[in-house]
Amino acid sequence: MNKDIMEENNNTSEVNRRGFFKSMAFMGATFMLPSGFDKIFAAAPSDKTIIKNKAPSIVMPERRILGTGKAAMEVSALGFGVMGMNYNRSQSPDKKQCIKLIHSAVEKGVTLFDTAIVYGPLINEEFAGEALRPFKGQVAITTKFGHEVINGKATGRQDSSRKTVRQYCEESLRRLKVETIELFYQHRFDRNTPVEDVAETIAELIKEGKVQRWGLCEVTPETIRRAHAVQPLTAIQSEYHMMWNVVEKNGVLDTCRELGIGFVPYSPINRGFLSGNLNEYTVFDNTNDNRQTLPRFTPDAMRANMKIVEVLNRFGRTRGMTSAQVAMGWLLAKAPWIVPIPGTTKISHLEENLRTLDFKCTPEEWLALEKEVLSISVVGDRYNAEQEKQVGH
Ligand SMILES: NC(=O)c1ccc[n+]([C@@H]2O[C@H](COP(=O)([O-])OP(=O)(O)OC[C@H]3O[C@@H](n4cnc5c(N)ncnc54)[C@H](OP(=O)(O)O)[C@@H]3O)[C@@H](O)[C@H]2O)c1
Repeated sequence: MNKDIMEENNNTSEVNRRGFFKSMAFMGATFMLPSGFDKIFAAAPSDKTIIKNKAPSIVMPERRILGTGKAAMEVSALGFGVMGMNYNRSQSPDKKQCIKLIHSAVEKGVTLFDTAIVYGPLINEEFAGEALRPFKGQVAITTKFGHEVINGKATGRQDSSRKTVRQYCEESLRRLKVETIELFYQHRFDRNTPVEDVAETIAELIKEGKVQRWGLCEVTPETIRRAHAVQPLTAIQSEYHMMWNVVEKNGVLDTCRELGIGFVPYSPINRGFLSGNLNEYTVFDNTNDNRQTLPRFTPDAMRANMKIVEVLNRFGRTRGMTSAQVAMGWLLAKAPWIVPIPGTTKISHLEENLRTLDFKCTPEEWLALEKEVLSISVVGDRYNAEQEKQVGH
């Protein structure tokens, strides 16, 4: 697995700052001062304390390219996973606050936002469409089809038949409030529909302008090759982080490198665990958090796996990094065509995550960290048996 680390230089391109600030102009903040606070907040500043009104600052200017040729897509080096704003990550702030957070992510430089039809179902796409409407044409919302959803409920079956993909595409366009889907992933493999047929459906949608590019999630190298031969892929999205590196061993990353396909690691902080904010006493919302169904999130597993977080913390402490930043920095250092999509409901975590790009470690430092982490056995599977059946086809 070591050969992947830092074998290529980062392909960084500068953001067009002027255009970006212009588009951000509407974001000027206004404050309502409650009585009693004016002395602190509204006192006339002395010359020394005047701070020039700065345009919103881009925290993360780095850009990366997923895919090649006509399938290429330039995006921010870190994307944003929208899922947890109303699905699978326990409670979240109210919609207004979440929209503010999404706008802040755009302001700080994020151009890639990830959702899926099955998140909610449907309400996560609706939320992403509403929140990102002011930035139509400036940022990309990626979404996913495949899980069957009937009358707003997931059935647990897969359906990537031509008719359903076309229908789901139309419905996603409406919910996302866009004319074209920038990147449409197949969420899980459908045993009843060969991937070549799915690729042909997508090719039709691309010709019609309803979809720009496509990708696959949690598939094998063979499936990637078959799909790519019919319609070039932009990205593969699979789980990848310091506690789950199967894509390094099963040939998926090698295939992406060979074919010029980008890679988008989901759950890059292992669903929050690698941040150190979760522990054996964490209680997940039993109506809205899939972590309670995952073997790695039982109290025993979390207690045992905390050793890994301790390694990340030790590595970060002498470099000024948090463990979440170490986890994402390691992924970003793997290859310039890798774009993790962490999710958060907190502005402080957003800023922390985007600041990962401020730190540069040498390949030797990353390798030493990796060696130490790999010497610890992870306790608990990543998915339960039912969820595992749906991946790796
Ligand atoms: N293709 C697929 O099959 C698939 C599967 C799962 C997920 N995804 C995508 O991947 C995205 C991210 O995945 P994920 O939510 O599973 O995992 P993640 O990004 O690894 O972790 C998210 C969790 O970590 C916490 N967090 C984020 N930044 C933090 C920080 N700096 N410090 C402390 N805690 C932090 C968040 O809580 P706070 O809100 O408290 O920050 C949240 O609960 C999803 O939104 C979704 O778009 C795709």
